Amino acid sequence: MPVLLCVVSEKTGYPAETINPDMDLEGDLGIDSIKRVEILSAVSEKLPRCPKVKPEHLGTLRTLNQIAAYLSEGNAVSAPIPAPAAVVSVPDSSLPEVPSIITRLVPELTPIGPRDAFPLDKSLPIAVTKDSGLDTAIVQELKSKGYNAELISIGDALPAQFGALILVAPAHPASKSCPWTEDSEAWLKKAFLLVQSAGRSFTTRGTRGLIMTVTRLDGALGLQGGNDQDPVFGGLAGLMKTAAREWKSVSRAVDVDSKLPLNAAAKLLVKELSFDGPVEAGLSSEGLKTIALVERACVPYGLEPLKFGDAVIVTGGARGVTAECALALGRAFKARLVLVGRSPLPGDEPAEFSAASSESALRSLIAKSSSGLTPREIGARAKELLAAREIRATLARLNAAGAEARYRAVDARDAASVKALVAETVKDFGPIRGLIHGAGVLADKPILEKTPTMLDAVLDTKLSGLRHLLNAVKPSDLRLVALFSSSTARYGRVGQSDYAVANEALNKIAQVLSARLPKCRVASLGWGPWDGGMVDAGLKKLFASEGVGVIGLTAGGEHLVAELRGSGPAETVVLAALPGARPALPVSFELDLTLESYPFLSSHVLNGRAVLPLAISVELLAHAALHANPGLVFTGFDDLRVAKGIVVRPGAGTTIKAHAGPAEKRDGSFVVAAELRGDDGSLRLSAKVLLAAKRPSAPAAVLKVAGAPYGRTIEKAYREVLFHGSDMQFILAAPHCGPDGIVIESKTALPPASWARQPIRDRWLTDPAALDAAFQAMILWTDAQMGAPSLPSFAARYRQYAENFPERGVRVVLKAVKRADGLAGADIEFLDARGSLIAKLDGFECAADASLAGAFRRNAVESAA
Ligand SMILES: NC(=O)c1ccc[n+]([C@@H]2O[C@H](COP(=O)([O-])OP(=O)(O)OC[C@H]3O[C@@H](n4cnc5c(N)ncnc54)[C@H](OP(=O)(O)O)[C@@H]3O)[C@@H](O)[C@H]2O)c1
Repeated sequence: MPVLLCVVSEKTGYPAETINPDMDLEGDLGIDSIKRVEILSAVSEKLPRCPKVKPEHLGTLRTLNQIAAYLSEGNAVSAPIPAPAAVVSVPDSSLPEVPSIITRLVPELTPIGPRDAFPLDKSLPIAVTKDSGLDTAIVQELKSKGYNAELISIGDALPAQFGALILVAPAHPASKSCPWTEDSEAWLKKAFLLVQSAGRSFTTRGTRGLIMTVTRLDGALGLQGGNDQDPVFGGLAGLMKTAAREWKSVSRAVDVDSKLPLNAAAKLLVKELSFDGPVEAGLSSEGLKTIALVERACVPYGLEPLKFGDAVIVTGGARGVTAECALALGRAFKARLVLVGRSPLPGDEPAEFSAASSESALRSLIAKSSSGLTPREIGARAKELLAAREIRATLARLNAAGAEARYRAVDARDAASVKALVAETVKDFGPIRGLIHGAGVLADKPILEKTPTMLDAVLDTKLSGLRHLLNAVKPSDLRLVALFSSSTARYGRVGQSDYAVANEALNKIAQVLSARLPKCRVASLGWGPWDGGMVDAGLKKLFASEGVGVIGLTAGGEHLVAELRGSGPAETVVLAALPGARPALPVSFELDLTLESYPFLSSHVLNGRAVLPLAISVELLAHAALHANPGLVFTGFDDLRVAKGIVVRPGAGTTIKAHAGPAEKRDGSFVVAAELRGDDGSLRLSAKVLLAAKRPSAPAAVLKVAGAPYGRTIEKAYREVLFHGSDMQFILAAPHCGPDGIVIESKTALPPASWARQPIRDRWLTDPAALDAAFQAMILWTDAQMGAPSLPSFAARYRQYAENFPERGVRVVLKAVKRADGLAGADIEFLDARGSLIAKLDGFECAADASLAGAFRRNAVESAA
């Protein structure tokens, strides 16, 4: 307890003697969940052997006594009680900003992969909420499939026993000036409470049930925005993504195209009840899709969204991260900004507090200067003083930057005040051209502990606040709307279900507004954590432990300006890398791979799935490096690593991105880091590509491999050992094969146009046929010598001494240099007819495993599950 008291006093500024260990942390001490994380991580640093308090415990540990009891369960040996830290701490903003590496991700629809089945218990009823038609179609379909279904109203109690809840959102067109109404927000809150009660029922019964929310946007989770449906219901996806993190029951958020006939929609939805995921899915005549995040750079639109002196209302703009954004907007557009917050317009600060520069220091001073105040009152007073300071500082910074700005104390949730604010702004500054909605509050708690008051606070600030603004302005005047959403809406986050709902609804609203207002740049920014605002030191640590960095204040403001100068899309996610993390390489090009446009893929099929051959991937890496550094020639690569194969889906295909960094000079060559990444951004292949002004001359060939001819005919080898189909059969003969290695005669590649409908170059940089033949030869060798086929995983060094491989083919000499459990290594030379070295691959490694034989035999494309 002494350590705990000391940390709480240090972090909050309440003198230790005013803290009673039975006080409620939140109710009496005003310690919110974020501060609690900070306090508990400081405690765990000081008492490393105590049990760690995890986020799921935060809800039950309400007093210091409860926390102390929890901590003492771990046989803790107390560290010496630390001396209280100096009271005055330096505000973070005075420290130099660490440059942020910002990643901009765009949600896009993607076909779903294989998924697990969900065995829904047919003996229990399925509760379906009433709406205007789809509900009865679902019930009919369920009954026809032998399920027992029960219609309930959204405000009703759930049956005592039920196996699933299908919560159907109303389908109604978006309303006129503002696309949604007060009623839709009220419905959303009721829906939240119904999901909460279903979750509670499953948790209490210890059953793994299914909860599916059904929205009726565009069948694309709002991403297409064209159906002009009430967007607010789309916020349910944020709830289900969080539910999927908080409890074990299956959580699904399915959006059905509102244009699908009801019976067809019902059939598809009922089919979905048998699957465990994905959490988010769009259902339209094109089938089921989910969302993938794709990294895309901002594309400037060319026209400024605002003109000098345009009026812009910025809710939340006097404080926190929105203040940083207001500053960036003020600098970039020289607009006239009206900053809005609930805090009163500040006067001058009483002189007695000027020495205190942190919240805890202020609390100490307040406690000393006004006796008789409770800790809660002291905390509230300190917060007020800090808010006033922040508002004054923001106005001063804007003033110094030459931007005209004023502050108005208006609660965005109050329609009449917002209306008056808009009227005053129009009178003084002219038509409202911009809305930045940054107002937001948190009330973190697990779904099962959320109260209607918390929902009101979090949802109303974001949704009613924006509705009042949109109802008060003239939409056709708008040129810019920026909504401050959160990455929590995209990913879900334990404790932040209401915040995820509100922000997800903002994302859907942005889609509809963007479609409706062609002259207005609408952007919903799903910010990851910033280095400020709601994120304090404790949360920053928590995010760092999850591998997430914080967005620097200047970098975030600049990103907003760039986004608003861009041409779209309406929804993005903005994340920062951890300091010291390697920056992402720039995208050199993107390639859509389909079986139709790259027919050879159907001859490279493993386990029923077409896989991009490594030899082609290497060619793409070389191309990416050259593309980013034109004027040089490709001479080889080092450190080729295969992280994961690139599977090309039948039908939809697969998009891959080739990334390449800047050329770095080394030993007369240029080294370019290059990567191939999948459409989900995951790394598939990397290498350091070597470029040079001139190709080096070839050394003499050195590898010698003896032995009898390979034991099968080549036709038999392709039939029985290799998996390669007719387009990928390059081996002509295998004159030697023995313990030392294997020698083959191979074809070289026909021009790219005979491999692909739209080749990216008209000549090869390497020779994919000869390289692939070498990899095939390795399979024959491991099969013959180790009794197991193999797949490549690494190559240390490749050097190419000729621009092109000879048309008449090459001899490939593969000398085994490593042979261990499950691993084979070789050095490989590619020779022309005169025995001259054309290329050399050293330190080639592959994984050999007998179980691959089965995958090799399933070498015809199988349709997706
Ligand atoms: N900081 C982050 O890491 C982060 C990450 C993702 C998204 N975001 C989003 O970015 C926005 C700003 O976040 P922040 O971290 O800067 O939060 P913050 O420091 O708590 O600031 C919130 C701002 O909103 C204002 N506000 C709250 N309720 C209001 C209401 N009813 N009417 C008018 N103004 C209101 C507050 O002013 P008063 O207190 O004076 O009313 C304050 O200026 C939020 O919408 C948040 O969801 C932030």
